[in-house]
Amino acid sequence: MYNRRAEIEKLKKRIDMNRLPVHVGIIMDGNGRWAKKRLLPRLAGHREGMERVKEIVEVSSNLGIKYLTLYAFSTENWKRPKEEIDGLMKLLVYYLITELDTLIKNNVKIHILGDITELPDRPRIEVENAVERTKNNNHMTLNIALNYGGRDEIVKGIKDIVNDVKLGNIEVDDIDEKTISNYLYTRFQPDPDLLIRPSGELRLSNFMLYQIAYTEFWFSNTYWPDFREEHFYRAIIDYQKRDRRYGGI
Ligand code: IPE
Ligand code: IPE
Ligand code: MG
Repeated sequence: MYNRRAEIEKLKKRIDMNRLPVHVGIIMDGNGRWAKKRLLPRLAGHREGMERVKEIVEVSSNLGIKYLTLYAFSTENWKRPKEEIDGLMKLLVYYLITELDTLIKNNVKIHILGDITELPDRPRIEVENAVERTKNNNHMTLNIALNYGGRDEIVKGIKDIVNDVKLGNIEVDDIDEKTISNYLYTRFQPDPDLLIRPSGELRLSNFMLYQIAYTEFWFSNTYWPDFREEHFYRAIIDYQKRDRRYGGI
């Protein structure tokens, strides 16, 4: 009989704990197709996807990942039917309410990438509360990309830079790559080392365009609701085999 636990333990042992990716990003995709395959409504896929969020956050925190970024809702996802958007917002609220104590206990800090002022009141208030209550935590940072778009982030960053130039806070000649980094939602965080996209799509869908210049990509055909601890370990094992040259030799 297939022993999942034994398989997981075996994979875990193959991970070099001294060379963990510091920052892992995940484009959580495939919820709708997972549901469709089972003749279920799309929201059932999102609900199951939320279970994987809990699992992967816990696994990452236990492993010692310092930054985990989860792409939850893009600036383009507003194009979806209202019913689906409402369902996703409800799930977000449910996640924050049911998981906040665990996140606090595990010393996880929640940080939001994206403009949450555009969210409906209820999810916005829950998000603000979660950010406030976890702000001093320092074991792991959980970035939730919410109403996030890489291009939108760059536009906002440029506006802020221009304003600071106008105010005399920075000089045009002092603007460098680091300056741009520090005007993004991920300011003062390291760039992602590893980006995981399940579901079979081979694209970025507007995710962290500036930050992923030298990120290692890992794609798989697994739909997000089927993406478990073992898949996460496999991604890290593969990542550790990569030769990151950064343009050198
Ligand atoms: C990802 O799953 C969740 C969000 C974008 C919020 P999808 O809903 O995109 O699932 P597919 O891609 O349609 O299967
Ligand atoms: C990307 O998935 C956004 C999130 C996972 C939140 P999408 O399903 O929206 O991306 P596309 O439309 O397939 O590119
Ligand atoms: Mg999708």
